[in-house]
Amino acid sequence: MMQHMQILKTISVGFIGAALLAGCKAGGDNQGREYAPNMYHSVAYEPLTQITDESAGTWVNSLDNGRGEYFNSNKYNPHRMNMREPAPNTVKRNKQGWLPYRLGKDDLIAAAENKNPLDSSAAIIAEGKALYAVYCNHCHGPKGQGDGKVATGVTIDGVEKGLVGGVANLTGEAYLNITEGHIFHVITWGKGLMQAHGSQVSPEDRWKIAKYVKTLQKK
Ligand code: HEC
Repeated sequence: MMQHMQILKTISVGFIGAALLAGCKAGGDNQGREYAPNMYHSVAYEPLTQITDESAGTWVNSLDNGRGEYFNSNKYNPHRMNMREPAPNTVKRNKQGWLPYRLGKDDLIAAAENKNPLDSSAAIIAEGKALYAVYCNHCHGPKGQGDGKVATGVTIDGVEKGLVGGVANLTGEAYLNITEGHIFHVITWGKGLMQAHGSQVSPEDRWKIAKYVKTLQKK
């Protein structure tokens, strides 16, 4: 008697299991049942959108109320922004832990005192060389002699185009004693006829270029 009960129980557990699994089947118009749908339809927050008009947003149909989650602005943050404002009274450092460069364009003398935080390894100088080729070569020339194509001018279809005048020969007497801090500052802010490159070249890359420029001057 006990044995029959046991067999019946085993069979019914098997049936119920099979029925449950069959219910999971998805196909055609049937999406099947989702367990924890929020995991599949993760809510994508746009950092700067502040759309508060519900009809303009998108709804993920994941909740039982047929509407799901509305994801175009974050009602918990100030101004309903998805992005948080930085914590008050904090200063952002970059990934090397460096503070922002605070010296202004006219602070060249103070800037010249700044030491290069990078070492003089061959790897750093090689990277400086590659960056110099991208950002400086066309004016200052491959050896820093102020003879890049933009400085000397080029002839295109028989028309001579002299482009930027007065490009410094960085190997000239006047520049031999400039420090890496000075070069960093000139790249950041520009000087005289040279425009600023601070927005294109990251601080770390500026220091690498400064190292490389000093090697050009040693020849
Ligand atoms: C569009 C052309 C141009 C580019 C690109 C350029 N420079 Fe210059 N650079 C100049 C000119 C022109 C001067 C001369 C500025 C003056 O004395 O009025 C100069 C001057 C300098 C000086 C001397 C500053 C001083 O103290 O008088 C340094 C150092 C220098 N450049 C480094 C660089 C480095 C490093 C790069 C690459 C990141 C670079 N430059 C990119 C045109 C350029």
